[in-house]
Amino acid sequence: MSRYLITGIAGFIGSTLAHTLVEQGHEVRGIDNLSTGNLDNLSGLGNRIDFRQVDLQDVAGMQSACEGMEFILHQAALASVPRSVKDPLSSHQSNLNGTLTLLIAARDAGVRRIVYAASSSAYGDQPTQPKHEEMPPLPLSPYAVQKLACEYYLQAFYRSYGLEAVCLRYFNIYGPRQAADSPYSGVIAKFTTSMMAGETPTIFGDGMTSRDFTYIDNAVSANLLACQAPSSVATGRVFNIGTGESHTLNEVYAAIASVLGFSGKPIYGFPRAGDIRHSLADISRATKELDYQPMVHFRNGLQKTVAWYVSEKEKKEAAAL
Ligand SMILES: NC(=O)c1ccc[n+]([C@@H]2O[C@H](COP(=O)([O-])OP(=O)(O)OC[C@H]3O[C@@H](n4cnc5c(N)ncnc54)[C@H](O)[C@@H]3O)[C@@H](O)[C@H]2O)c1
Repeated sequence: MSRYLITGIAGFIGSTLAHTLVEQGHEVRGIDNLSTGNLDNLSGLGNRIDFRQVDLQDVAGMQSACEGMEFILHQAALASVPRSVKDPLSSHQSNLNGTLTLLIAARDAGVRRIVYAASSSAYGDQPTQPKHEEMPPLPLSPYAVQKLACEYYLQAFYRSYGLEAVCLRYFNIYGPRQAADSPYSGVIAKFTTSMMAGETPTIFGDGMTSRDFTYIDNAVSANLLACQAPSSVATGRVFNIGTGESHTLNEVYAAIASVLGFSGKPIYGFPRAGDIRHSLADISRATKELDYQPMVHFRNGLQKTVAWYVSEKEKKEAAAL
């Protein structure tokens, strides 16, 4: 049994990590300021986790949260490109100042290793596909700059203070518990819930934008592997976490429509500021060094995700009766 602190525990990825670690018998503490997270994501965990509603920038809160922890899975962030374009200062404060506050507390508490939710947005719009970790970064949005700067901070804390740090560059994670009710929500959550409501989703751009859509279980397994990997191969390093396959928004739309039996044709809108055109991961480094393998692939992941949104809707409707 190990002791884990999960930041952003009430969010999509943080809460899924919490459910997995609790099921495996680990001790879990979690912090979240509930800015975009939802306590419903933690339902069923009850007093099996030590949940604290606190902001990353709260120095005393982070000191207390890090006390006695072996691993930190750092997921908390305002996780949205458009939001950072609209309001760069608040996302900077949350993402960058918050991460620095956490790192100082982790260093002082003697935490063994921190695994960071980095982002494929660091690669920007470079034409080379797939993206590999040796490529020079080219962040295009304030969010991408913040996520990349946090990677550098983690690496600096490893080199300066010996705090073991592993950065996982996630490529479009999706799955159950991803919020669908915000303008910044992931596209699969949005398309699914719109179609379930009988509404035609809007595709920003011409629908040929493509992403390496990565089912949540793959991201969870990457985090656990990153905690266990020998320090000599993992620490101070960056790893792409994706599937090595990409799909266009038109394909995503068609696949979800087919699962749900939705016949509406997509509405096309203007491309969004800061969005990149194509994104595909080269996962060979994670495969070789962390023993990471994507376990759930696109069609299967989409089916599981759509099934989850349908069952949540049914539960809500039953509870309203
Ligand atoms: N979902 C993806 O496709 C994706 C891709 C690349 C990187 N990431 C990164 O993964 C992490 C988790 O993303 P997610 O999709 O679960 O997002 P999410 O919004 O569901 O979860 C983030 C959580 O962090 C919390 N939070 C935000 N700012 C905070 C602060 N200052 N203090 C404390 N809590 C705070 C939110 O309330 C939320 O619960 C983020 O760091 C994000 O940048 C996600």
